[in-house]
Amino acid sequence: MIGVREMDIDFYQHCAQAAEAARGPAWRYDEMKPCGFHYNNFLLARVYDTHHQMFRDYQQETEQIVGLLGRDPFATVIDMGCGTGVFAIHAAPCYHRIHAVDVSQAMLNRARRKARKAGASNVEFHHAGFLTYEHEGPPADAAVSVAALHPLPDFWKLVGLHRLASMLKPNARFYLFDVVFSFDVAQYESAAGQFVQRMSVHMGPNGQAESETHLRSEYSTCNWIMEGLLERAGFQIEEADYKDDFLAGYVCTNKSDAVRAKSLTVADQQLR
Ligand SMILES: C[S@@+](CC[C@H](N)C(=O)[O-])C[C@H]1O[C@@H](n2cnc3c(N)ncnc32)[C@H](O)[C@@H]1O
Repeated sequence: MIGVREMDIDFYQHCAQAAEAARGPAWRYDEMKPCGFHYNNFLLARVYDTHHQMFRDYQQETEQIVGLLGRDPFATVIDMGCGTGVFAIHAAPCYHRIHAVDVSQAMLNRARRKARKAGASNVEFHHAGFLTYEHEGPPADAAVSVAALHPLPDFWKLVGLHRLASMLKPNARFYLFDVVFSFDVAQYESAAGQFVQRMSVHMGPNGQAESETHLRSEYSTCNWIMEGLLERAGFQIEEADYKDDFLAGYVCTNKSDAVRAKSLTVADQQLR
């Protein structure tokens, strides 16, 4: 009897160690743990498109992003935080391969089902995120991330962007769209009210709850911080589109090799 219990303990210890090893070092931010709105929920994943299509036109949005990244039947693209596969599935005919990455297994399951139905066989799904995705094979030609960076605190946004830059070819395009604040901080109360009001108009009571959680518990940051993070991660911002006080789109070029080369030169100079 005691032997069985010891075996059980060994087994659970082994599982715990394996889970720990998969998460990486203990100091790394756990991006698998939702910080605000819980996307790892199969009911939410099921209604996500219904809610979002109340204010988004997926086809038009994808065409705009493809226009910014460039259409290329030989290119490999990373979609970081793919959710239900909005960009990956709609853009699949424009590229050779799309690596669609998300930390939520529920969203990925939904996306996989949709991709099968749409015949998007060149979309490869990965359960990972900005901090844990390991890109295999040659560097990608482009990357996109829509509304998926804000769950990370700022330092981890920088790490995630830097990691992403290192997976891309030099001069590759990156399109980032997210909730980014560009209002005057003196107006933060009325700005927050407007944000919640806007989301309620778009999505009803769900929009209200989601936007309140977003402001209270997630890590959307200021426009000047986001610009600094992108640049320090190795991206050159070609266009910053502040659609309003809350949403921003950035078209970037990967200059991380140049940034590395520059820092090498400085280090080199110090050695001399
Ligand atoms: C608002 S949804 C956006 C989904 C999709 N990009 C779209 O356009 O509809 C945010 C997604 O980001 C994912 N996410 C959250 N943190 C992430 C991280 N650190 N890395 C990658 N994806 C993340 C969530 O699981 C969720 O699917």
